Amino acid sequence: MDKLLIEGGTRLNGTVQISGAKNSAVALIPATILADSPVTIDQLPDISDVRTLCKLLREIGGTVSFKDHTFVVDPRKMVDMPLPNGPVKRLRASYYLMGAMLGRFHKAVIGLPGGCNLGPRPIDQHIKGFEALGAKVTNERGAIYLRAESLHGARIYLDVVSVGATINIMLAAVKAEGQTIIENAAKEPEIIDVATLLTSMGAKIKGAGTDVIRVEGVQELHGCRHMIIPDRIEAGTFMIIGAAGADHLLIDNVIPQHVESLTAKLREMGVDVQVGEDQILVSKSGRLLKNADVKTLVYPGFPTDLQQPLTSLMTQAAGTSIITDTIYGARFKHIDELRRMGANVKVEGRSAILSGPSDLEGAKVRATDLRAGASLVIAGLMAKGITEIVDVEHIDRGYDHIVEKLRSIGAAIWREPLLDDEARERLKEQE
Ligand code: EPU
Repeated sequence: MDKLLIEGGTRLNGTVQISGAKNSAVALIPATILADSPVTIDQLPDISDVRTLCKLLREIGGTVSFKDHTFVVDPRKMVDMPLPNGPVKRLRASYYLMGAMLGRFHKAVIGLPGGCNLGPRPIDQHIKGFEALGAKVTNERGAIYLRAESLHGARIYLDVVSVGATINIMLAAVKAEGQTIIENAAKEPEIIDVATLLTSMGAKIKGAGTDVIRVEGVQELHGCRHMIIPDRIEAGTFMIIGAAGADHLLIDNVIPQHVESLTAKLREMGVDVQVGEDQILVSKSGRLLKNADVKTLVYPGFPTDLQQPLTSLMTQAAGTSIITDTIYGARFKHIDELRRMGANVKVEGRSAILSGPSDLEGAKVRATDLRAGASLVIAGLMAKGITEIVDVEHIDRGYDHIVEKLRSIGAAIWREPLLDDEARERLKEQE
């Protein structure tokens, strides 16, 4: 068990390479279960969520290799093994095993997903979709049991725009008999990426990236080679890091359109952002940042996953800023930690209200979830003195080599093992 230490205040400079998208990767890997010959995916991020999913595919009989960011799976010998416990509970995206295994085997048993604790995260829309396709779904002792005699196309209207439900229903529908129409579908780039992989495998999908997706079921899906899209949330995190303290930070391998809402917001705050074809250059402004209000929305609105990182930057803006999370109204566990570091911020309902600028000071803080961790790294880079972040496994779930990437641009950041009493405290909390 490690902790992260950051000595704040160093000026950053250089180029950072963005990895493949975590939230695509965690859906693309389960999607390969549906193929009847080997699939290769290039540029997968080297993060613990990907390694956990590789383990799960091996557990159900897949032959998997993951080296130098290339993932190769032979899914032919996979079986419909129940996965009620174990690694499946470590990440929320294991819910994609439900759609993929249901699509291939017409049955699945998956332990209820874990992942970041952002308040209630129901999966009722996923289940409604599976049922519409002909599955019987029950919840027995904390695991979801799915069974279907056969799967048939259906018209499904999502009551809530959900990334997970949209992808999961696509996975279950690609081999169902007849046409499935998903209405009020989510439009995130990760959905298009999954549809692209499935199409290369032989699926018939139209409309991914719009709010109506049409899937025409096919009998067989075959192997293929696919290149994942870059991670827009990692790119956004580094854009914020650039705005917080870089002379010039070049973010390489990014699709600028995917981060437009952040680009606009940073410019509104007075940050210099220059956009190229697949690169973005961000420089810290010599002037005080302007305050701004932000509301998270479904894509192409401002992403909830950048709400926590942006909050750290907003502590440096003059006046009052309000950041409202309409997707996860309780995604504010980073706020107490930022206050420990000297931020003047409070939570009211679904909003964080900041009054700045605040002088941040290094402190001992906790990465309560993945993006809270990112927000604390950003705060640590700006703070005076040393910041110690514990529970870094949350950060390692989603950021590929974050320490190495930050060191390469001049940050003073390193890992240290937890002291004995810190490790004991951690173990006690986990019991
Ligand atoms: N919702 C329901 N019922 C459902 C599904 C969702 O009420 O059946 C609600 C959720 O509670 C939430 C909203 O709908 O209020 C949107 O949730 P969505 O299903 O879109 O989220 P998700 O698919 O579970 C993914 C990402 C999250 C990201 C959200 C929103 C993955 C594995 N996770 O979650 O990423 O915050 O979309 O964009 O793709 C992260 O990367 O840190 C992360 C948490």
